[in-house]
Amino acid sequence: MTNKRFLSGITPSGDGTLHIGNYLGAVAQFIELSQKNEAFLMVADLHALTTIQEKKQLEKNVETLILSELALLKGFMDEEKFKKIVFFRQSDVPEHAELQTILNNVTPLGLLKRAHAYKDKLQNQDASDEEINLGLFNYPILMAADILLYKPQFIPVGKDQKQHIEIARDLAERFNKTFGKNIFVLPEPQIPEETAVIMGTDGKRKMSKSLGNIIAIFEPEEVIKKQVMSCYTDPTRAHTNDPGHVEGNMVFSYLDFFGERQTVDEYKEAYRQGRVADVEIKDYLFAALMKTFRPARDRYEELKANPKLVKEILEHGTYKAREAAGKTMVEVREAVGLNNSYAIGSSLIVDRSSKNNNCITIEDIAKLEVRVGKVVKAENVEKSDKLILLTVSFGEAGQRTIYTGVRGYGYTPEDFAGKQFFFVVNLKPRKMPGGESQGMILAVDSEPLPFGKHGATKPLFVSAEGLPVGARIR
Ligand code: TYM
Repeated sequence: MTNKRFLSGITPSGDGTLHIGNYLGAVAQFIELSQKNEAFLMVADLHALTTIQEKKQLEKNVETLILSELALLKGFMDEEKFKKIVFFRQSDVPEHAELQTILNNVTPLGLLKRAHAYKDKLQNQDASDEEINLGLFNYPILMAADILLYKPQFIPVGKDQKQHIEIARDLAERFNKTFGKNIFVLPEPQIPEETAVIMGTDGKRKMSKSLGNIIAIFEPEEVIKKQVMSCYTDPTRAHTNDPGHVEGNMVFSYLDFFGERQTVDEYKEAYRQGRVADVEIKDYLFAALMKTFRPARDRYEELKANPKLVKEILEHGTYKAREAAGKTMVEVREAVGLNNSYAIGSSLIVDRSSKNNNCITIEDIAKLEVRVGKVVKAENVEKSDKLILLTVSFGEAGQRTIYTGVRGYGYTPEDFAGKQFFFVVNLKPRKMPGGESQGMILAVDSEPLPFGKHGATKPLFVSAEGLPVGARIR
């Protein structure tokens, strides 16, 4: 598959660490697929709230998962490849929650009752409807929103997520049909057979954070060693020199992915003939895991020590994600009838063609030159009852004359003289009584107004006291 868009997510549940099931079922696919496709990869922090309801724990889990995923997405340091990866946190894009609210209304209750996350909890964990929160019950709708917002063609996941993708397809169809618009694309699950379900170290159940049968990737070596040593092997084999079974033996299952082909084949043969001890193959598995994940483990520490870089990656991702999600939401609002002429539009980043759009782009903002200026002289303009003329120093960049029409609000020259403020300095000069205004002082409205509305409330001037005169604001 090439040049398509895909999306996937991982939930920072448990303690936020990644295990080799996540790696094989999801992250390894992301790495492979993101080289040729546009990848939206999300840390699904809103989903984690169904189980993690402790502030500190959630904060830590989100950090751990962000660092782990980035450490594994090794292409990210490489400029060209990184450009195709959009890595972001779900809660940084409020459109996910907004679309979930809308999709609630095309979701039959029965569909959710059949969803396995809810059903499993009800049956296996003996929980009642009184104990199960609505977040868990609703989970598939939020996940459908996660997916549909980005109109991806495919979703790489493990088999446990298949039903959720089917629900997303179902809701997409229902929405399109109900509102008579083909807005949502029906995504295909991408679940390679070999990695669809990675079994846990107990050899009985799927590897899962909540079952404690995992092999972690970024935990201390002693922890991983212990997890490897606990792997289910062959219970019928009492002594090292008894012939052993390779099938269903978790050490060999994992070695098929992480060991060297020839060595693994030799070990398998030796095991079948009773020539090698469990501990030896486990030691080899441990060494193979360390070899595979050594670069990522090192990178984890590097990233942890460089929060600025991590934040930059997330900022880039959030911008791209909001741009894509915002566009879809403009269409959704329009289709359902929320976009009439009184609507202001809740998304800050919206399609520029939208009729409610009063947004500018980051490129527009980058054109604005704002600097710290010091008012060296302030005087009333004689022929005006509004204007005050400021002579403003920008340090080495020189002086400017800048007018402000605020006497009507009770301001006097003394309010400005000798003080520092922020000024826009790349405006076209404007003719004024007795001279020209070579910039504009920045002010804040004294009352909050809705986004996009510009009122005429008393301006409050933004102090730039203590900042270097002439410095540029970025
Ligand atoms: P989560 O966090 O449980 O798992 C993340 C990814 O890892 C895969 N996986 C496995 N694959 C094979 N064998 C295993 N033992 C194994 N354990 C986990 C999962 O299938 C998944 O791909 N609801 C999702 C996160 C999510 C999402 C989305 C995914 C939220 N929004 C939108 C795709 C699209 C979850 O909790 O995955």
